[in-house]
Amino acid sequence: MLQIKNGRVINPETNMDQITDLWVEDGKILGFGVDFTEKEADEIIDANGMIVAPGLVDVHVHFRDPGLTYKEDIVSGSKAAAAGGFTTVVCMANTKPIVDNVETLSELVKREEELPIHVKQVSAVSIGFQGKELVDFDAMAAHGACGFSDDGIPLTDAGFIKKAMEEAARLDMPISLHEEDPSLNELNGINKGVISDKLGLGGAPALSEDVMVARDIMIALETGAKVDIQHISSGRSVDLVRYAKSLGANVFAEVTPHHFSVTEEMVLEHGTLCKMNPPVRTEWDRKKIIEGLKDGTIDMVATDHAPHSAEEKAQEFGKAPSGIIGLETSLAMGVTNLVKTGELSYMELLRKMTINPAKLYQFDCGNIDIGCPADLVIFDPEETFVVEKFYSKACNSPFVGTELSGKVHFTICDGKIVYRA
Ligand code: DOR
Repeated sequence: MLQIKNGRVINPETNMDQITDLWVEDGKILGFGVDFTEKEADEIIDANGMIVAPGLVDVHVHFRDPGLTYKEDIVSGSKAAAAGGFTTVVCMANTKPIVDNVETLSELVKREEELPIHVKQVSAVSIGFQGKELVDFDAMAAHGACGFSDDGIPLTDAGFIKKAMEEAARLDMPISLHEEDPSLNELNGINKGVISDKLGLGGAPALSEDVMVARDIMIALETGAKVDIQHISSGRSVDLVRYAKSLGANVFAEVTPHHFSVTEEMVLEHGTLCKMNPPVRTEWDRKKIIEGLKDGTIDMVATDHAPHSAEEKAQEFGKAPSGIIGLETSLAMGVTNLVKTGELSYMELLRKMTINPAKLYQFDCGNIDIGCPADLVIFDPEETFVVEKFYSKACNSPFVGTELSGKVHFTICDGKIVYRA
């Protein structure tokens, strides 16, 4: 039996925010309260001054396994996740080969079951990410896919995406969409605006996201599909998602820590380390994103953890791959840039990092209640640290050297300590 003493237990699902003891046995939450039992605990964690919350859930990571494991693999990726307080993550399908067939999926799911945290896998939507032929949705679902996404490659054909949404709706599974119309992008990874002009780099305008979101919320409304608008970056897209929800569409939105924290200015200092799809945009967009986080339009924080090698990122802007890592800084970015600034409470931030993503995927996690799986994060909201070392194989983060608040001390998955600072 494990006793977690004196922590501030914050559980968004039940609106619990209370300093108490938490007891864990056989991988499950046994009970709350200082006098819960006379029995001796085998291990005691002193969580005085710390927040005890459900293990974090990230619906959007890239573990590059199989085929691109020089960037990350499922073992290093799960270590990075555990160090960031995550106990459940959802891997995207843009691996090599792509996860668009039962063989690749089954092998991966089997290996993912051996990991210390829960690593789930989406299936591609289209064969070879070509946006032309649907994967076998039934077979992929039957072999362990938790949802569908061609993340990385936008699906540009409206008729095709409608068919894909119908399939996802029939199975009541989420379909996650990377919303950028490539025909409107001059260059990926940098917002089209003052900074791209200054650098003479073309750029990807917010319009490229907006037109896709506008199209897909209407198709979502028509089909009833559970649609996750991935890594929302444009202020107008936030308004569109709000509108979709008001119409009753089953539309959800996720935002990355970088999109709520920084703007296109950061490219000037960090170059390719701040290149990602969609790009970080203007202060106006960032403020609209925060508005969307506050009023519930944006349901989830997701990292889009996208490891790349130092050599790849050292190339010139146009050639370097897009993406940054995020698992080990996500919680602290939320604490520092949303809670400490007074935008969200811990309860609200944690809701978007635990129960909301868990519910979208119908995962049995994200809740601290008697009998629930003992997936927990214990962090010190006041402790600051400077971002420097990573458990990830990659270090492509523009936040290296930044001081953040909110240090993870323990991550517990199925009652076992999987990370200890
Ligand atoms: O910047 C990005 N990188 N955006 C994506 O959607 C994909 C990701 C990657 O796989 O590197």
